[in-house]
Amino acid sequence: MTIKTLRKAVFPVAGLGTRFLPATKATPKEMLPVVDRPLIQYAVDEAIEAGIEQLIFVTGRNKSSIEDHFDIAFELETTMKERGKSLEVLSQTRLKPGAVAYVRQQEPLGLGHAVWCARDIVGDEPFAIFLADELMIGKPGCMKAMVEAYEKVGGNVVCGLEVPDSETDKYGIIDPGARDGALVEVKGLVEKPKAGTAPSNIMIPGRYILQPEVMRILETQGKGAGGEIQLTDAMAQMIGKQPFHAFTFAGKRYDCGDKAGYIHANMALALEHPEIADKLRAAGEALFAKG
Ligand code: UTP
Repeated sequence: MTIKTLRKAVFPVAGLGTRFLPATKATPKEMLPVVDRPLIQYAVDEAIEAGIEQLIFVTGRNKSSIEDHFDIAFELETTMKERGKSLEVLSQTRLKPGAVAYVRQQEPLGLGHAVWCARDIVGDEPFAIFLADELMIGKPGCMKAMVEAYEKVGGNVVCGLEVPDSETDKYGIIDPGARDGALVEVKGLVEKPKAGTAPSNIMIPGRYILQPEVMRILETQGKGAGGEIQLTDAMAQMIGKQPFHAFTFAGKRYDCGDKAGYIHANMALALEHPEIADKLRAAGEALFAKG
């Protein structure tokens, strides 16, 4: 089996973000900041660390601020230069010319449909998918660690994390087979199974390395759970035809699609940020002491 190098990543950012309304009425969820970086910046940094060369954003209406974020901001930069301010703070927002492509998902028909919208740019290559509202923090980053695993086993590698049994109905869940270190074989996948019916409590937290065949399956994929075209259903059809593994990430995961998870991420990262950690710790202690 030849294992093709992973070069491309898809960032589906066309969701409506209804759990964050009204904050997400005119601002994409992926532009919400954790401390001083928008969520999408964390995902892009993780992709670049993993050696990804082409970034494909699947956008929708109201998402132009994502395009602007990764572009040159002429007025801002000129004014900053004139005032003698360093542009270093913007360096992560500079992507290599030609390294980024945007495609529109005209209607939010589901994650599977969003990924399928990128089929022509992905072409006949393996590709990664990042759900930027899942913030993965670790050294090495989640995708870099997944790529190292992928280079050994090939096929499809998704991230897998254990959640409490009562939460399986929120996620795509794995039916696990043999385990080998951080890798577990995937025998089946179910989208949002009700508590008590789930094959395990291992969910997929928004990081995937998939083979291009999944695009052919998505082409004719009907609606699944929640009336949406589900990526999980298409991935499930690849099991048995290609190697399929879940990789257990040793770092931290924050579900920033959810208000509590998002605030948790801000608290945790603020307490590690050299500029503000001390102030925040003191403020937090005072707040918690009040009860
Ligand atoms: P979510 O299930 O979190 O949905 O999508 P959402 O619309 O973003 O947020 P809520 O639930 O209404 O608050 C998971 C990921 O899939 C993308 C989203 O942008 C998010 O990254 N997505 C979802 C699309 O790109 N298109 C879709 O049609 C659905």
